[in-house]
Amino acid sequence: MKLNVPLDPTRTGRDAEALDANLRRLIIGQDEAIEQIVNIYQMHRSGMSAAERPLGSFLFLGPTGSGKTRIVEATAESLLKTPRAVIKIDCAEFQHSHEIAKLIGSPPGYLGHRETHPLLCQEVLNQYHTDRVKISFVLFDEIEKASDALWNLLLGILDKATLTLGDNRRVDFSQALIFMTSNLGSSAMEAMMCPKLGFSGLAQSQNETPDARTDEKLSGKISRSGVEAARKKFTPEFMNRLDKIVTFRPLGAAELKKILDIELNFVQQRVFRASGERSFVFTTTEPARQFLLEQGTDTRYGARHLKRAIERLLVQPLSNLIATEQVRGGDWIEVSFASAEEQLSFARRGQGLHLQAMSELIDESLALPLLALANAAAAEAPRSPGVRSSRRL
Ligand SMILES: Nc1ncnc2c1ncn2[C@@H]1O[C@H](COP(=O)(O)OP(=O)(O)O)[C@@H](O)[C@H]1O
Ligand SMILES: [Mg+2]
Repeated sequence: MKLNVPLDPTRTGRDAEALDANLRRLIIGQDEAIEQIVNIYQMHRSGMSAAERPLGSFLFLGPTGSGKTRIVEATAESLLKTPRAVIKIDCAEFQHSHEIAKLIGSPPGYLGHRETHPLLCQEVLNQYHTDRVKISFVLFDEIEKASDALWNLLLGILDKATLTLGDNRRVDFSQALIFMTSNLGSSAMEAMMCPKLGFSGLAQSQNETPDARTDEKLSGKISRSGVEAARKKFTPEFMNRLDKIVTFRPLGAAELKKILDIELNFVQQRVFRASGERSFVFTTTEPARQFLLEQGTDTRYGARHLKRAIERLLVQPLSNLIATEQVRGGDWIEVSFASAEEQLSFARRGQGLHLQAMSELIDESLALPLLALANAAAAEAPRSPGVRSSRRL
């Protein structure tokens, strides 16, 4: 009897699914980039990556502050547990041949040969590998600024997954993901997005559901304009070696709103890390968040501008409150908007809170690690009676 069992080739394995979920939590509005990264990772996990080539090569196009660098860090964070695992090469800094030596070292006998530790050597590439994950992350930022020497080096890596160092040692890139970014063509993209951006756009997008079909059309147009700009600027030789070209979308008001929530959680994490035993929690009112968004929206700089507004309007005042001991461990601080002064205001709404009570006030993604630490501290406590707890949050 002939079998005919239908199979579903769109389902991904558990590891790829976890990566997908993590990236969707951290990266807003760039689903195509997430899909492409997850696809390449799935191929690697199944052992289906092409031999003698990097595991994947990506060209990320699109405006400043749209998440091109962040998605690479977030992938490294998800897989290797640290965003520091990304080796970043800022192409603008490697214009001259002596600067290339910083990447690959100089030939033996050359002046300064001993002192140069090439950035792209195997040890550096492999340093963040874990028992489970042996993937290296290499990011070439702003490749349109790369010199000819750097281009040749990059082409070699993309084509053969090897790089020859100054002293003739070979570096293997077959376990590396290569990311390249460029903000080429982003002004044309912004012009297309224009009616959807800006603060007037925020009010609109909150009340109206976006028309999915127009949105899809616009996406296609943005994506094509990015790829076109890249084809004009880069040689076919280069373009043909890339696995994926993804155009990042300029972030609109709805996306920035979600990114604000993510960033506020990061600020709370910083509070936990910075204040140790004096950890406190803060919450923000809706008008306070609205104010931060208003101050943080500038279409030219995407989420970068939002982050700067958060530092200036929230993190700096919080630091002052910590330094002057106006906030203490176990406090609940509420951040609201003072409309008369047009600024954020800070008030203590609770004090002497236990960790459990604190954890209920914050996002659950933060509450769980907080409680885990508290439990660990509690388990340790009985062993040192009378000694002041050295619990750190
Ligand atoms: N799509 C996004 N989702 C979540 N955060 C983002 C996004 N885009 C930017 N950010 C935030 O803004 C910061 C700057 O973005 P980045 O990725 O460095 O921009 P670029 O596209 O210029 O590389 C990031 O560190 C991140 O905090
Ligand atoms: Mg960047």
